[in-house]
Amino acid sequence: MYDDLKGKNVLVTGGSKGIGRAIALRFLEEGANVMSISRNIPEDTDDRITYYNCDVSGSNDVKSTIENILSKFNGIDILVNNAGIEEYARLDKTDEGMWDRIMDINVKGVYNVSKYCIPEMIKNHSGNIINISSVQANIITKNAAAYVTSKHAIIGLTKSIALDYAPEIRCNAVLPATIDTPLVRKAAILEVGNNEEKIKDKIREWGLQHPLGRIGKPEEVANTVLFLASNQSSFITGASIMVDGGLSIKAPISTPDE
Ligand code: NAI
Repeated sequence: MYDDLKGKNVLVTGGSKGIGRAIALRFLEEGANVMSISRNIPEDTDDRITYYNCDVSGSNDVKSTIENILSKFNGIDILVNNAGIEEYARLDKTDEGMWDRIMDINVKGVYNVSKYCIPEMIKNHSGNIINISSVQANIITKNAAAYVTSKHAIIGLTKSIALDYAPEIRCNAVLPATIDTPLVRKAAILEVGNNEEKIKDKIREWGLQHPLGRIGKPEEVANTVLFLASNQSSFITGASIMVDGGLSIKAPISTPDE
């Protein structure tokens, strides 16, 4: 479908599960060479994806991993900064450890990996970076101060990269709402406990909040990332693309004809 992605070297952070895994698999379908860095390497991995065990929050770890990648692959054409974590608390309950953990992975992780990929892209006079932010950079839930802040920060970083490295490098952000991944299941368990029926009910309830009536699939985020990575989106940079089933357009206010 996207012929220009064939043979491209693509690095996806957090490609071991959830959205990152779907993105990695979707690039494979287009004939790209796919590498992924994540904290754990899955056992049921697709052996066409080259996995690297690396913590995106550690600058030395990232530096040596990117060097290792570049010794095997001839450059990195496309970078997808997807790795991220979510933890829940309002500000006064957010201890310094939680704040630092979320900022280090969600924001500094994007800085670290981009920092070591961008010089390669500059050398090649071309590159494409896609950052996975969240609908929470737009509308927000309660009790997620650090996460919400981190996802807003990613929008700023996306715009900075887009402006500073145009026209050779494009950079855009994708803002998903609730997507069916281990992260969302973990959030449901925190709310309703480890009970399969209650978890399903909670996820269904979240889905009904979205105008499209369901939560999203990782593949639906992946399809948007592929579009942004391809030449089909050649005049889009610095943008924030919602993949949210309409969640962010809905005001929670009733109207007379309801
Ligand atoms: P997940 O928990 O299912 O997968 C997260 C991935 O990130 C895993 O591969 C994990 O190994 C990797 N990772 C986490 N910390 C890392 C670190 N320090 N270094 C390297 N890799 C690390 O999460 P999910 O749901 O797939 O989320 C992916 C991204 O999408 C995250 O940035 C998340 O904030 C964002 N997102 C997810 C939504 C959802 O509803 N699932 C909604 C909006 C945004």
